[in-house]
Amino acid sequence: MTDRELILHAIEARKNAYTPYSHFQVGAALLAEDGTVYLGCNIENAAYTPTNCAERTAFFKAVSEGKRRFSAIAIVAAPEGKPLQKTAPCGVCRQVMMEFCNPDTFRILMAVSPEEYTVYTLGQLMPEGFGPDNL
Ligand code: THU
Repeated sequence: MTDRELILHAIEARKNAYTPYSHFQVGAALLAEDGTVYLGCNIENAAYTPTNCAERTAFFKAVSEGKRRFSAIAIVAAPEGKPLQKTAPCGVCRQVMMEFCNPDTFRILMAVSPEEYTVYTLGQLMPEGFGPDNL
């Protein structure tokens, strides 16, 4: 799976974003270590707080199907009808990543097109993070 292919999956996932309140549409494609890709979109709610981010949707789909080892996630986002803009995962999603990913190796791709993206490790976005190894 190339980075380009993973980003294309995220772009596809974004089409299912359910965003009647913010109109900010996010897509994510999570690559498991066995090569499986899990898609996620943000899913909003009239009560606002139950809203689930695209990244966590992808993680929870994967974990609920038995996957626990991941190598990368691609994220694409923009307000409805606007060009993609570089978007970072929220703090809650970073914490979920900490649960299942190695901060030194897990790659986070923030993309504005299949060719134009920035890569960070989870550790770069979550310095001094708290995870299962701290217990
Ligand atoms: N959102 C995500 O899905 N992922 C992010 O990385 C940032 C925020 C969603 C939550 C909400 O539906 C909308 O974007 C505006 O915050």
